[in-house]
Amino acid sequence: MTYPYLRPRRMRRDEFSRRLMRESVLTADDLIYPVFVHEPAGRAAVPSMPGVERLSIDELLRVAETASELRIPALALFPVTAPEAKSLDAASAWDDDGLCQRAVRALKDRFPELGVITDVALDPYTSHGQDGIVDEAGYVINDTTVEALVNQALSHARAGADVVAPSDMMDGRIGAIRAALEQDGFIHTRILAYAAKYASSFYGPFRDAVGSASALGKADKRTYQMDPGNSDEALREVALDLEEGADMVMVKPGMPYLDIVRRVKDEFGVPTYAYQVSGEYAMLKAAFANGWLDERACALEALLGFKRAGADGVLTYFALDAARWLREAG
Ligand code: PBG
Repeated sequence: MTYPYLRPRRMRRDEFSRRLMRESVLTADDLIYPVFVHEPAGRAAVPSMPGVERLSIDELLRVAETASELRIPALALFPVTAPEAKSLDAASAWDDDGLCQRAVRALKDRFPELGVITDVALDPYTSHGQDGIVDEAGYVINDTTVEALVNQALSHARAGADVVAPSDMMDGRIGAIRAALEQDGFIHTRILAYAAKYASSFYGPFRDAVGSASALGKADKRTYQMDPGNSDEALREVALDLEEGADMVMVKPGMPYLDIVRRVKDEFGVPTYAYQVSGEYAMLKAAFANGWLDERACALEALLGFKRAGADGVLTYFALDAARWLREAG
């Protein structure tokens, strides 16, 4: 049978049948809000990310209240480290009284039901802006870095982080962190592995926001983050992280890598997240600011695309706005 008996447009004719056949939906449950925390009082704008601000812990608590009201499940914290706190060994990363640890304690104290995710990586704490400890040639030394990451993850767990999210792409770090968490009794701490993280040029505005861009200079992260041409390698990375004890896996960046999200979800069927990164946000915001694209419609469409690709959730700087728009739309 074919046309005229088969007319796919019949189902698209009315809103009721469009709603009935819709396969993917976006709700506030799908959103994770990344936030930048800094030491100074008040807020500071991030020029390449309009609408995003670095927040003091007091301001962070205000934002957390809004996020909770909007039923956003979790925040992802990114500390902006003062130059004095940066060093070659990144030791301030596991200071129990560091900015990230204080922010976690303040959040869990005031909003115990709001999930708190911390970034496990050394780049905010190294003087050179790499995600690990380097040798004389500037090469990130894997196993020494993993030891530091274990210290950092344990410090986050002691502060009360619900989820630790290693974003460094070292080999073996998930297994090492999982073993250390178990040994110290943190059996409930979830690990969200940045399993397939690419050496992307879309992280630029984030590096401005956390102040690692100037430290990194012209260097890149291609000896540990993945080559944008690869997809089988992503599956291998995800397989290893799951074997080593990850509870959730992430693909990053988002929109240019939706094929990876789909492959990961189909292959493993585990909780899978995508990060709509700073450059994707900046790109959309620039078009909105010029009046070239409609903000609400395009931001929600981009986020829905992650769901359709198989993501269970999205880390997005649009989280607060998106949750508001979804609520207004009922
Ligand atoms: C660092 C880290 C980065 C991002 C999250 N964690 C940047 C990088 O790897 O250089 C990027 C997030 C974004 O661009 O929004 N470990």
